[in-house]
Amino acid sequence: MSDQNAEQTVSWRELRKETTQRFEAAGLPEAEARWLIEDLADGLLDDLITERSMARHDDLVARRLAGEPLQYVLGHWPFRTLDLMVDQRVLIPRPETEVVAGYALEELDRQSGDLLVADLGTGSGALGLSMASERTNTKVWCTDFSADALAVARANLAGLGRPARRVTLAQGSWFAALPDDLQGSLALVVSNPPYVAATADLPAEVADWEPAMALTAGSQGTDDLHHLVDHAQKWLAPGGALVLEMSPEQTIPLADRATALGYTEVRIRPDLTGRSRALIAQRP
Ligand SMILES: C[S@@+](CC[C@H](N)C(=O)[O-])C[C@H]1O[C@@H](n2cnc3c(N)ncnc32)[C@H](O)[C@@H]1O
Repeated sequence: MSDQNAEQTVSWRELRKETTQRFEAAGLPEAEARWLIEDLADGLLDDLITERSMARHDDLVARRLAGEPLQYVLGHWPFRTLDLMVDQRVLIPRPETEVVAGYALEELDRQSGDLLVADLGTGSGALGLSMASERTNTKVWCTDFSADALAVARANLAGLGRPARRVTLAQGSWFAALPDDLQGSLALVVSNPPYVAATADLPAEVADWEPAMALTAGSQGTDDLHHLVDHAQKWLAPGGALVLEMSPEQTIPLADRATALGYTEVRIRPDLTGRSRALIAQRP
């Protein structure tokens, strides 16, 4: 039997055992091998593997074993109802941000009519595209300072279907990306800005692969959070809400800052593990 024929008699299910062993030997979770194989097999685990698919498998496994995060290796990752394209130009969408999106939707549901939304620092589009696809009464601005990130958001917008008509992408720094005539009219400003201190010791898988512009914000990590809290009220409609993701130790100082600036209904909310992760505040 030629090597080629030998390859073609292997099913994804059989290959999964071998890939799992290789991942475990490298200290990687068994689940990652399972996800990778299921993704490549497109759910058809008993199909025999073509030579071309085997070459792709080998390439993806080599990338993962070299330390590249699984999400970039696969090139896409789920976020709530969406399957987002992701690569090194954007932060990998996180489960805690799915929870923040839920808080943002609650703030939309408090309000009625057609609602204007801004997702500032949209990256892959995770927050803004979720708002647009989960609430049909929204018009959503997704912005980023990074043209590279916006290219990824644009690709994800193209795969969004009908809700895409209600989404606009814009490049620029925070509120400067928005047209001036939106001032005083936004029902929601949502953002997961960079909030890691420049000196923080991040795991290599984050520091070596994810974009620095998506992670760090000044010596304390609060530069961008402060900017957003300080300027959002001017852009919000009366009763509109600011919803921000941050790290647990930043929540109380940021809530105090929001209260001092005159926001009302200032709340701190947890992620799925119970850690304080979101600040919610309303313009009176
Ligand atoms: C932590 S990532 C969040 C990405 C995405 N919203 C998510 O939750 O997965 C922060 C994003 O803010 C963007 N960013 C950094 N500085 C910015 C600025 N001055 N103005 C607008 N966006 C900025 C980064 O390019 C990055 O896409």
